[in-house]
Amino acid sequence: MIMHWHILGAGSIGCLWAAHLVEAGHQVTLILRSKQRITAFNQQVTIEQGTETRHYPVQCQLADHPESIHHLLVTTKAYDVQSALSGLRSRLAQGAQLVLLHNGMGPQQWALQHCSQQQVWAATSTDGAWLRQPGHVVFAGQGETRLGRFDAPQDSSLATQLQGLALNIVADPVIEHSLWRKLAINCAINPLTALHDCRNGELASNPVWRAEMAELCQEIDSLLARLQLSLFTDGLLPVALQVARATGQNYSSMLQDVRHQRQTEIDYITGFLCQRASEAGLSAGKNEQLLHKLKKIC
Ligand code: PAF
Repeated sequence: MIMHWHILGAGSIGCLWAAHLVEAGHQVTLILRSKQRITAFNQQVTIEQGTETRHYPVQCQLADHPESIHHLLVTTKAYDVQSALSGLRSRLAQGAQLVLLHNGMGPQQWALQHCSQQQVWAATSTDGAWLRQPGHVVFAGQGETRLGRFDAPQDSSLATQLQGLALNIVADPVIEHSLWRKLAINCAINPLTALHDCRNGELASNPVWRAEMAELCQEIDSLLARLQLSLFTDGLLPVALQVARATGQNYSSMLQDVRHQRQTEIDYITGFLCQRASEAGLSAGKNEQLLHKLKKIC
C-alpha cells in the first residue's frame, strides 16, 4: 500500500526515514519551520552511505498548510514534540497513524491523552546517522528500529506495512518496555558523561564515576521493580557498563548538547524517571541530584 507520510523534524533521523520511504515508493512531505528552510531543502534529501550518495525527491511545506495528514512521523527532540504536535492537531485525520521516534519518554503518554482520535505508535532506534548539512545525511551504521502501537500493544500492522523499507524495522508488541529499557540505559550514562565531560567508556574505567553509575542503577532498578518492569536479568548496571564500553570512544548525545550549548533532553530522560519515582513514593536522590545539576548547566 502506497502511503503519504508527513515528517515533522527534518534532522538526521527524519531525513533518513524520508529517503527510505521515498525509495520504497511512498510519498513524503517534510514539515519545515520557515520558508528559508524550504528553500534550503530544495525539494530533496540526500543520503550518503559509504562511497554512495543518492538524492530523493520530497515535498516541503509549513505547519499551517491546509493539507490533511494521514501518516505522521515525529522525529523532533523530545522537548519539541508537544508544541509541534499541538500546532498540527487540526490537520490530523481521524484514525491517522502518528509515530513518535525520539529519545526519552513523556511525549508518548501526552500523545495518548491528547490525540485520542488517532493511532499512537512509538519507536526507538539504534540507527547511526548525522547531518552534513540541512537535508544531507550521512548514514553511518544500520541498527534496529523497534516499532509498536502505544495505545493497542498487540497491533503490529504498521511494521508490516513498512517492511518494504531498507531499514531494519522490528514489530514490538510491548514498545513501552523497549522505551523504558533505552531510558534506563540513557539515565545511567548520559547525565554522568555530560557532567564529567567524558567519553562513554570513561564511566566504566574510572572507579569513582563507575561507583556513581552503580548508585544511579540501584535507584533505577528499585523503580523498575516497583513498576513490575522486569527488563534486565542481572539488573541495569552490567548492561549499562556494557553499552558504555561498546560505545567507549563516543561522546553521548547529552554531552554533545551541553558542549554545543543546546537544550538537553534531561527532562525527558532523568526527569521522567524522577517523576515516576516520586509518583511511586520511591526516593531517587542520586538521579534527582544529577537532574538539578544538569538543568543548571544547560
Ligand atoms: O544517547 C546516547 O548517546 C546513546 O544512546 C548512549 C550514550 C549509547 C546510551 O545512553
